[in-house]
Amino acid sequence: MIKKDDLELKMQQFDLAMSPPVQEPERQYFYIAKAKKMVSELAKTLGRKPTFCVVTFGCQMNARDSEKLSGILEEIGYEDNGTDENSDFVIFNTCTVRDNANQRVYGRLGVLKNYKKKNPNMRIGICGCMMQEQSVIEKMKKSYRFVDLIFGTHNIFKFAELVVRMLENDEMLIDIWKDTDQIVEDLPIVRKYPFKSGINIMFGCNNFCSYCIVPYVRGRERSRNPEDIIREIEMLVADGVIEIMLLGQNVNSYGKNLDEPISFAQLLQRIEQIEGLERIRFMTSHPKDLSDELIAVMRDSKKICRHLHLPLQSGSTRILEKMNRRYTKEQYIELALKIRREIPDISLTTDIIVGFPGETDEDVDDTIDVIKKVGYDNAFTFIYSKRTGTPAAAMENQVPEDMVKRNFNRVLETVQHTSKNRSVSYLDQDVTVLIEEMNDQDDTLVTGRMSNNTIVHLKGNASMIGTLQNVHLDECHGFYYNGHVIES
Ligand code: 5AD
Ligand code: SF4
Repeated sequence: MIKKDDLELKMQQFDLAMSPPVQEPERQYFYIAKAKKMVSELAKTLGRKPTFCVVTFGCQMNARDSEKLSGILEEIGYEDNGTDENSDFVIFNTCTVRDNANQRVYGRLGVLKNYKKKNPNMRIGICGCMMQEQSVIEKMKKSYRFVDLIFGTHNIFKFAELVVRMLENDEMLIDIWKDTDQIVEDLPIVRKYPFKSGINIMFGCNNFCSYCIVPYVRGRERSRNPEDIIREIEMLVADGVIEIMLLGQNVNSYGKNLDEPISFAQLLQRIEQIEGLERIRFMTSHPKDLSDELIAVMRDSKKICRHLHLPLQSGSTRILEKMNRRYTKEQYIELALKIRREIPDISLTTDIIVGFPGETDEDVDDTIDVIKKVGYDNAFTFIYSKRTGTPAAAMENQVPEDMVKRNFNRVLETVQHTSKNRSVSYLDQDVTVLIEEMNDQDDTLVTGRMSNNTIVHLKGNASMIGTLQNVHLDECHGFYYNGHVIES
């Protein structure tokens, strides 16, 4: 992240007729300056500021990447239009974790093709995890010729440079890297919310769970230096942010490969010291790497939120082994109960996959048993999706659809039951709520989140957005509460 004024100063130093610097991020500053000039000429031709829209699919990691794309686009002179229908530049930031994510992208691309027919000047860019798959690129080249720019997850920092090349040329531009060990800091970013922000602490994943495509599309694990992370958070806090979400595919292994190794728990302790920062969240934890040190740091912290997302995937030790998860049913339960013992008010959430190859009804019974024993506050249940190139895709005994559906419903029912029991337990308590937005159904209400991530609706107005309020919880409606502000 870089401040607007600092970037301005850097850009003034360039002679755009000269060749660009080789070093990053200076090279990108050069291209931002160059793109800015090109976009201002485009604005003259159009008689207005050109518009853009970034459409995000997938996880919080992608949401953060989209903020980086928007940061560059605003800096070079595009205006956020909020809709892809009549924007001059539309970007789809894609996800490929399950096949339905891909299908949604193809569906929306079909619609976009019609928009482009109506507005032939529209430029279309597509990036993100899906683009790291060779088969997708082949399909793009063959059936989606109307797309102007295609890039991947590893070279997103080069976006300004790619935009310049795209604007100079009418051909489809494709730039995909297989992997990278580079982390480019200090590029512009815009935030969706002024008071909260995601922050990447690491990129990629080394776990190779046998069903998962992420290690293939996001590359090997790389941690950012703690100093860069702290500096970024300090800048965000100075800019009004009070809640941060530390992002990584497996935050519990943060820092292990740095020149000066540091644990995730130590990083959290350093972040806790930042004055003005009120809340710290993080995503995602792998059970095999979750240390006692982390549990203790969470327990003793005033800022780390009372929420831990701890993906289970399956409760059957046999299936866990085939998934390459590297823990057993018993180890997982022991860990979850230890966390509940140490931090009783914590909310535990999870991800579960139903229908992994070879899964029997008895395996699903084990999953249901874990759900009951741990008593999740919430769980995301997914039907197994075969991802080409992963070891599980080549496994025999893919589970028949009707069996998957039946077991999926069994799991869902159990999850709904346990989470209802958990959420009702906060009724009539006084809690702190970060007010995030106006309620979209009723404009006399605002909506916010408790530390444990539960949603609360209460009477209020726009001036409360971004503030922490003491709230009494009056009514529980399953996944959310209604409450009212009390004097502090
Ligand atoms: N099929 C179904 N669900 C998957 N996930 C990851 N890969 C797959 C797949 N091939 C789920 C996991 C993970 C979440 C982000 O997505 O539960 O935790
Ligand atoms: Fe996020 Fe994984 Fe989807 Fe990529 S593939 S957007 S990392 S969930």
